Amino acid sequence: MENNNGSKSWAFRGNEKLNIDTTDTIGGTLYWLRHTISNNEDERPLIPFSNGDPAIFPCFRTSLRAETAVVRALQSAEFNTYCPFFGTLPARRAVAEYLSRDLPYKLSPDDAYMTLGCTQAIEVIVTVLASPGANILLPKPGFPTFEARCSFSNLEFRHFDLLPDKGWEMDLDAIEALADEDTVAIVIINPGSPCGVVFTYDHLKKVAELAKKLGILVISDEVYEHLTFGDNPFIRMATFGSIVPVVTLGSLSKRWAVPAWRMGWLAICDPTGALRNSGITEQIMACLSLYSDPATFIQAALPEILLDTEDEFFANRLDLLREGANVLFERMKEIPCIRCDRKPEGAIFAMAELNLSQLEDIEDDVDFCFKLAKEESVLMVPGVVVGVKNWLRFCFAIEPSALEDGITRLKAFCQRHAKRQ
Ligand SMILES: Cc1ncc(COP(=O)(O)O)c(C=O)c1O
Repeated sequence: MENNNGSKSWAFRGNEKLNIDTTDTIGGTLYWLRHTISNNEDERPLIPFSNGDPAIFPCFRTSLRAETAVVRALQSAEFNTYCPFFGTLPARRAVAEYLSRDLPYKLSPDDAYMTLGCTQAIEVIVTVLASPGANILLPKPGFPTFEARCSFSNLEFRHFDLLPDKGWEMDLDAIEALADEDTVAIVIINPGSPCGVVFTYDHLKKVAELAKKLGILVISDEVYEHLTFGDNPFIRMATFGSIVPVVTLGSLSKRWAVPAWRMGWLAICDPTGALRNSGITEQIMACLSLYSDPATFIQAALPEILLDTEDEFFANRLDLLREGANVLFERMKEIPCIRCDRKPEGAIFAMAELNLSQLEDIEDDVDFCFKLAKEESVLMVPGVVVGVKNWLRFCFAIEPSALEDGITRLKAFCQRHAKRQ
């Protein structure tokens, strides 16, 4: 075929799998929300309830010890080289030791692989599991990167609900009903994003037993590990590794609030060797060999960061999160059209249900968030983006004064749009 000026038409074309609707992702939605308000004349500061990155606030600055370890590694000039594609031995040893502190058995450095944040750990395990015809079970609400990755890798996903009336526990009956002989794995996120749930020991054990019955792997996204400030302590899913093989995903991004360092890991927690015997670990290595690896100097600092960060830093961080969750939960009661029944006990988000029947000119959660951004310069993620329509996702890991200010503006917005009696 010829084009207008008589030469052969261009043969290039893109990958159709990337023709996705950007409003289906958190990043895409936030881009459009920010775009909507770029010409606003509002002089008040933007309130980012949409935020998943507390690092922008001075009160969430990372630990001095972590910063010092990175600076020292960088200035030594010993780590300006490439490193093995699956990570340096000291970094892998540190991850194994760090995770083993919470487990009834010891991981070895060979169980740990270094990744570019938890995002790349998700990418690797989804790619490895995406064999033709296979399917995977994902939580709803959840973290949309899993869905996006599965779509891109042609791995079918099936959603099971987290149950708001049961404190956002996983619907175990639904999991059992959804699985078939082609189901390869289930994903859990604990502490839970976006619901702020921290699963109990008993609940996780039931999931492990169910996964064993179904013969499937458990992928545990623990990017919010140890960020718990309610009654339930953080239990690693791999605690049940002798019942079912677990792949643990994590990173420095949340606990240390340094997502820009892009330091994550994937760990095989498989004391019975079930996973090793399946060849999956070799495929993880093969997959990693195709990718770029995390910066060598950050890996060099990792042992000190993971194993020696001062307790005081963690305690202060939890105090801030606990206070944020309390303020959000209490003040939300002042806004009749938004219901948040459960105070978050972990991670950095809470979900609240929108009662549209009390609002006059708001179509749905997306319309709510766009109008709120335009009128009040308050950014929030519509629930539909994380899997539940007409809910709202709030991040409470923001500066305390911004949190108060944001709720006051949200309240004013809801009053202005309330249905007149
Ligand atoms: C549940 C969940 N998993 C993974 C990630 C990605 O983590 P990272 O920034 O380390 O890539 C996030 C980031 O917000 C998340 O919320």
